[in-house]
Amino acid sequence: MVRGTRVEGRITRGTTNTNRLRRIDRWIAAQPVLRRADDPLVVDLGYGASATTPLELHARLARVRPGVEVVGVEIDPERVRIASARARPGVSFRLGGFETPTPDGRPAAIIRAFNVLRQYDEGEVAAAWQRMLGRLQPDGLLVEGTCDEIGRVCSWIALGPEGARTLTISLRLAELEAPSIVAERLPKALIHRNVPGERIHALLVDLDREWARAAPLSTYGPSQRWISAVEGIRAAGWPVRDGRTRWRLGELTVDFSAVAPS
Ligand SMILES: C[S@@+](CC[C@H](N)C(=O)[O-])C[C@H]1O[C@@H](n2cnc3c(N)ncnc32)[C@H](O)[C@@H]1O
Repeated sequence: MVRGTRVEGRITRGTTNTNRLRRIDRWIAAQPVLRRADDPLVVDLGYGASATTPLELHARLARVRPGVEVVGVEIDPERVRIASARARPGVSFRLGGFETPTPDGRPAAIIRAFNVLRQYDEGEVAAAWQRMLGRLQPDGLLVEGTCDEIGRVCSWIALGPEGARTLTISLRLAELEAPSIVAERLPKALIHRNVPGERIHALLVDLDREWARAAPLSTYGPSQRWISAVEGIRAAGWPVRDGRTRWRLGELTVDFSAVAPS
């Protein structure tokens, strides 16, 4: 941290887990910015009680972008001290908050903040987003979201410097009863908006309906059922992104503008 720089935010619970963020890591690994960036600097902001998620993120991204550098940023000095013992080439740890300190102040290609804003108030989200967006490269990406303790129910918002672009839902499909289980794990900007009259609520209602309609396809496996449900969502007029390659992973990505709070 540069002397005199204020650390922005507050220490919250440090819960984390091995493999918890695998679905998010996998999605980030497929983002074009990772390959395109001249400086592939990635920040894992609010990594929690151990060095686990920055190390895993680095291992997964290095497979698609050699030379990627991951900086874990944490607001709790004790967690920085513990994690620093596991620093290695390409992975470092530093004290900081939403101001997102990086080596030599370099802007980041990607900032991932997971299960961080969940513990803040909804009214604090916009300022935190703005602060992190200001630390991105011109083509950079902020990935902000939430998941359950073992990473089977996840959702995140991807933002470019201009603001929120997409919402992604990513679910373990085996034994999934209803996709609306994600309601408990929506990003802070949406979790309190899952009520009738809000578009995120309408999306989850439609998704549950399409998942139920596609039930007979379970014979061919849950991925086929999910693909059919996503096609149903798209046919219903939702601006669905990507194609079967991503859908078969249990993902659904829509334009954020279609689900933004009214
Ligand atoms: C629940 S843990 C999440 C750990 C990991 N990201 C995960 O998803 O497993 C949240 C962590 O974010 C940290 N945190 C909260 N606000 C922060 C901020 N403004 N900047 C950096 N870290 C922050 C907390 O201290 C805590 O360790």
